[in-house]
Amino acid sequence: MKLLFATGNKGKLREAGGILGENIEIVSPAELGISGDVEETGTTLLENSRLKAQTLYAASGLDCFADDTGLEVDALGGEPGVYSARYAGDGHDNQANMDKLLRNLDALGPDIPRTARFRTVVTLILDGKEYIFNGTLEGKIAHEKAGCGGFGYDPVFISEAYPGLTLAEISDEKKNAISHRGMALRNMATFLSKYKSCPLDEDDRQDK
Ligand code: IMP
Repeated sequence: MKLLFATGNKGKLREAGGILGENIEIVSPAELGISGDVEETGTTLLENSRLKAQTLYAASGLDCFADDTGLEVDALGGEPGVYSARYAGDGHDNQANMDKLLRNLDALGPDIPRTARFRTVVTLILDGKEYIFNGTLEGKIAHEKAGCGGFGYDPVFISEAYPGLTLAEISDEKKNAISHRGMALRNMATFLSKYKSCPLDEDDRQDK
């Protein structure tokens, strides 16, 4: 089946392709000549995820999904969270975001716990109905950036599964197998495979 993914982020598109496999063909808004840009005005990941999916559905009328992801750092009271993309300003500058994060954590002193997690909320719109899927990845913030893979905050995030290595230092395959986005999209794929073989009655749908 074909699904539109409400993103222009090449890293997200690459990862989603690897996670969802051959049974689901991912199409980007750009491929259909639709602008994927949505102002993220929500105050939660769920609101922004729904907003992105609903905007794309309104523009395309096609089955589609969106994700919104935040990095929650415990010592910073859960920041940057839903504001992760704009942590260092409206430029969505990954390097500046990571620099600000490392600076703010370092300012709290060397003994501060650096525990953190990525949280992803995926909204799927299928046959006009909404379905929500969640994923998290626990880990901690590194003391400095390392690695060239991945995207976003990957060079400063060390997962529990690969201690000593940032997400930017492991392969896409390894990241996808443990990641927040991997978990949420695999939940979506499981739902889709059941839905396809046995579409639910209107009363039985598990919409929110
Ligand atoms: P959004 O979901 O596109 O709003 O992403 C929010 C912020 O988190 C952006 O700065 C992204 O680059 C970053 N981000 C999203 N997913 C990941 C990831 O898997 N690894 C690292 N950073 C990510």
